[in-house]
Amino acid sequence: MSKLLDDANLIQEECLGRIDSTDELKSLRPRFHMASPCGWINDPNGLSFFNGRLHLFFQYHPYSNRWGPMHWGHAMSEDFLHWNFLPVAMAPDSEADADGCFSGTAIEDDGKHVIVYTGVIEGNTIQNQSIAIGDGVEYKKFDGNPVITAANIPFEYDKAHFRDPKLWKENGLYYVAAVIKTDDGSGALLIFKSENLRNWEFVSVADRSSCRLGMMWECPDLFSLDGEDVIIISPQEMKEDLEQGWHDGNNSVFMIGKLDRSTWKFNRKIVKQIDFGIDFYAPETTLLPDGRRIMVGWMHRWEGFSTPDDYPWSGMMTLPRELKIKNGKLYQHPVKELDSMRCNPIKGKAVLESEKETALEGVNGRFFDLELKMKDVGKNSGILDIKIACDDVHCCDLMIDFENLEISFDRSKSGTRKDCESFRRFRFELPVDGMFDLRMVCDISSAEVFVSDGEYAFTNVFYAPKDATEIRFVTSENLSFDYNFYTLV
Ligand code: FRU
Repeated sequence: MSKLLDDANLIQEECLGRIDSTDELKSLRPRFHMASPCGWINDPNGLSFFNGRLHLFFQYHPYSNRWGPMHWGHAMSEDFLHWNFLPVAMAPDSEADADGCFSGTAIEDDGKHVIVYTGVIEGNTIQNQSIAIGDGVEYKKFDGNPVITAANIPFEYDKAHFRDPKLWKENGLYYVAAVIKTDDGSGALLIFKSENLRNWEFVSVADRSSCRLGMMWECPDLFSLDGEDVIIISPQEMKEDLEQGWHDGNNSVFMIGKLDRSTWKFNRKIVKQIDFGIDFYAPETTLLPDGRRIMVGWMHRWEGFSTPDDYPWSGMMTLPRELKIKNGKLYQHPVKELDSMRCNPIKGKAVLESEKETALEGVNGRFFDLELKMKDVGKNSGILDIKIACDDVHCCDLMIDFENLEISFDRSKSGTRKDCESFRRFRFELPVDGMFDLRMVCDISSAEVFVSDGEYAFTNVFYAPKDATEIRFVTSENLSFDYNFYTLV
């Protein structure tokens, strides 16, 4: 084991020990989301099922709660909700990745856990793809790394931007899809193939932005689901477009289309936002043995830093979400395993008088699952404001504006340090049958919201004081809805 890996493990152990022995820190940890054990985390990496467990690696800088030379942290779960931390899988300790082990993916292959990732060198001016193989705990990098470099690409591109390989196996061959920055300054998705993981051959430019879908692309994923071919991309520098559902900066989009397996070109038909929230980026998916396609995203963002400075960690992952496609739409649901945490069910019908702030008996807390259904919803239903994490001073507002068909989240009163990063909204369509449904899963400092049976996802984090546990409802019109509320334990 290298000194860099040793050091990273020492600091992780020290940090986890400190959290475990400090009640205040323990009380701030999410209960059923993977949160950084120590220091900074960003993208989920290597999400994969191996030896009967779900493995989730992550971009990791254990030395401070800010980004730094990237390691691969490693967590494992049996139930997709509770995570055990394993030794740090990789440190930037080889010639092929001396400036960072950037994002990548993993598969189970012939009893081995195979990782492909981006090795960064020469002060982040060169990015190439490398391989590591492990047994679920320890990982050994190939001596011959890097295995995919500029020498594999038959045209010019920006060498500082070639990263985030997605690995899969098909008809006995290995494939990698990775992103580059082309000479127009925007992203493209390349496909490579190999018989042995060591020697790779360029196959195609499967798709490209041509400066129309953001600039550089990051973290691609590529899979088939419900009879459709799907590509996931996280494009940078997009411009706000409320109609399209884009916000300024980094977005994560899914594209439904057809991947022609003779040319390996993708014919893009539908492009949509995956999650409209402030805190969602760089998702990765994997296929479970039971056939479910699940996705995990980074529950944070590059455009700002909202973690309180005195936290020894920064960053959480979303719940694993099961994906489905119906009629050209992507539907997301928290994995069904979450239902096992539901306690103290409260079922009721709320009848709300306009402009009157209402609390519902037993509906409060910071670890909950709230389901709400409304009938006969139309433009004249006005605004429903669900206030969570409230005390006398603080609260966050999830506002459903039925008149303007907008849903927004405002955390400016949650005790955040910078209110300019506190608001996000998106447009939605009302179902034709007049039924509106919403589910909100809250885990102390995050709220994942799913609307219209998971057609819209909206993920936001907030760091309100932990005792701010009241939930209140305010409406502009007289409204009623049915609800189910569970505390998650
Ligand atoms: C996306 C990303 C990846 C890169 C990693 C570096 O969030 O920028 O493209 O591999 O983070 O930490």
